[in-house]
Amino acid sequence: MDYIELAESAIKAKRNALPTYSKFFVGAALLTNENKVYSGCNIESSSYSLTICAERNAIFKAISEGERRFKALAVAGDTEDFISPCGACRQVMHELMSADSLVISCCDGDERRTWNRSEYLPDPFVPDVLLK
Ligand code: THU
Repeated sequence: MDYIELAESAIKAKRNALPTYSKFFVGAALLTNENKVYSGCNIESSSYSLTICAERNAIFKAISEGERRFKALAVAGDTEDFISPCGACRQVMHELMSADSLVISCCDGDERRTWNRSEYLPDPFVPDVLLK
């Protein structure tokens, strides 16, 4: 599985989104270090803050299946320009994906944008302070 295919999986995952209120469909595809793919989509609740983004949905799904090591996550929305993951998802990506992980973003065209970990979340909150 290469990153072009991973982006295609994120685009496909968008179809299962449930964006009842925003009507904004988002899909994500997460690649494990063993090359398995977990997809995710955004699911909205009428109690709006309970909504889950596609990226965190994919990560939590994979973790709940016993996966622990992830090297890349692709995200796709119906956007002309590259979709940019929200801050909450970036924090979760930083904590739960590998240090050399990549985030790949799609747009309406065939171009892709890629961020490494220090680009997608500079100066993160790190859990070390909680683990002492
Ligand atoms: N959304 C995502 O799924 N990922 C993001 O990175 C940004 C926003 C979803 C949440 C909500 O269902 C809709 O897009 C509008 O914010």
